[in-house]
Amino acid sequence: MDGPRPVCSAWLARLFPRPGPVRRTATQGAVCKKGRSVITLTVNDTAYELDLDPRTSLLDALRDHLALTGTKKGCDHGQCGACTVLVNSRRINSCLTLAVMHEGDAVTTIEGVGTPEALHPMQASFLDHDGFQCGYCTPGQIISALGMLDEFRSGWPSHVSESLEGEPELSNEEISERMSGNICRCSAYPNIVDAIRRARDESVATGGNKEPA
Ligand code: FES
Ligand code: FES
Repeated sequence: MDGPRPVCSAWLARLFPRPGPVRRTATQGAVCKKGRSVITLTVNDTAYELDLDPRTSLLDALRDHLALTGTKKGCDHGQCGACTVLVNSRRINSCLTLAVMHEGDAVTTIEGVGTPEALHPMQASFLDHDGFQCGYCTPGQIISALGMLDEFRSGWPSHVSESLEGEPELSNEEISERMSGNICRCSAYPNIVDAIRRARDESVATGGNKEPA
């Protein structure tokens, strides 16, 4: 099929959902009460107060307490990357960390990246390059791509970088290696790599930034 495949608005809204209900609160330190923990998280620039079981993962806190279901639960064991979010601008697997470990941290989920009406350039590039099939891994792929490009811009080498110094070329091999923590059961990998490359190249060409903002 030539060109991007048509995507209906309902599917787009499911792929890149809006934020859920908001509970705002003043910032406060973590509080323990009767086996519960009360913490404050800033998620997508909004402060939330969460009263939760201290064993709650960050992933479950986002999905079950804040109704931010854009972040997906795949394996729940740190193996698939579907749950990737940015914490203080660094990508992590949110299933592998407890919410109480992130008191006061700033979390970015796919809901904070763009909306169906105003897609982030990386989201638009995934659509243009057919970078998904079922879409289950896509939020994690996009968050991971943004974190990965920030790491690349900061000069972090990867396992396939020829030199540990200087900025390597962002080859397909570099993108694949740096995105290897994000599994796609539909095997959309070639198109995912194309989408990330195009988003990054267009950002450099048009904005002077080295990553999509
Ligand atoms: S759900 Fe977290 S890595 Fe798979
Ligand atoms: S698009 Fe289906 S898992 Fe990646």
